[in-house]
Order: sequence, then C-alpha cells, then structure tokens
Amino acid sequence: MTLPIHKICSLTVLSISLSVAASFAAHAEDEIIGDAEAAKSKISMCMGCHSIKGYKANFPAVYHVPKIAGQNAEYIVSSLKEYASGARTFPTMRAIAESLSEQDMADLAAYYSSNK
Ligand code: HEC
Repeated sequence: MTLPIHKICSLTVLSISLSVAASFAAHAEDEIIGDAEAAKSKISMCMGCHSIKGYKANFPAVYHVPKIAGQNAEYIVSSLKEYASGARTFPTMRAIAESLSEQDMADLAAYYSSNK
C-alpha cells in the first residue's frame, strides 16, 4: 500500500517547518548587538522620565528617576529584562520594558551607555 500523496506532502511541510523553527531558535542564541543609531528612534519613549540633558527627573516629582545615561550597557539590558519579567517591579517601567524587543533593549543600552 502506498501513502496517499497529501500525507507525504504534509509530512514534508512539517519537517521543513521544524527545521526552520530549529534554525530560528539557534539564531536567537546569537548575541544581540546594540545599535546606538537605531536607538535614536526609540528613545522618545524614555526621554520624558530619563531625560538626558541635566539628567533631570521630571516625572513624577515624587519618584527618584535614576540616571541611565552613562550606565553600563549590560546593566541597562538586565534592568529592562528584570522589569519585563516582573523580577524588578515598577509599574511604568514594566509596561515599557514589556513592549521592548531584545534588540530594542540592546539598542537603547548601547545608546545610553555611550551617552556620558
Ligand atoms: C513614566 C516614566 C518612565 C519612562 C517613560 C521610562 N522610565 Fe525607566 N525608570 C523610571 C523610574 C521611576 C525608574 C526607577 C524605578 C525603580 O525604582 O525601580 C526607572 C528605572 C529605569 C532603569 C533602571 C535604572 C537603575 O539605575 O537601576 C532603566 C535601565 C530604565 N529605567 C530604562 C528606561 C528606558 C530604556 C526607557 C525607554 C524605553 C525608560 N526607562 C522609560 C521611569 C521611567
């Protein structure tokens, strides 16, 4: 007995999509390189609170907004990941961090760490 043709086809499709998924996963393991230039289109969402000039905390006055410019890039990325995962809690930072991709975090970290 031979396999019906549509069965063979769907098996091929399945194995192709599995190998695509595998190479995707392998790619995700690659180190993400932050691009400070690319961050320039993303910093507008941080400026209001972490403004660069004078490092003023202009929102909300009662909170101490840490200076992120000039901080170590790895520290910035790990802080953002902690906010996103909830390991570090701060409602506004969590909402923002959750909306960022790993590439966004790396770009922002590259930007802020090079901004002394
Ligand atoms: C609504 C105001 C607000 C916005 C917008 C905002 N932040 Fe924050 N951010 C804060 C506050 C307040 C803290 C301190 C929270 C705490 O005590 O954990 C903080 C903390 C951080 C920290 C940890 C700093 C440290 O010293 O540990 C990083 C990194 C950070 N923010 C990055 C960003 C980035 C990148 C953006 C833009 C994508 C952003 N924030 C947007 C208010 C904001």
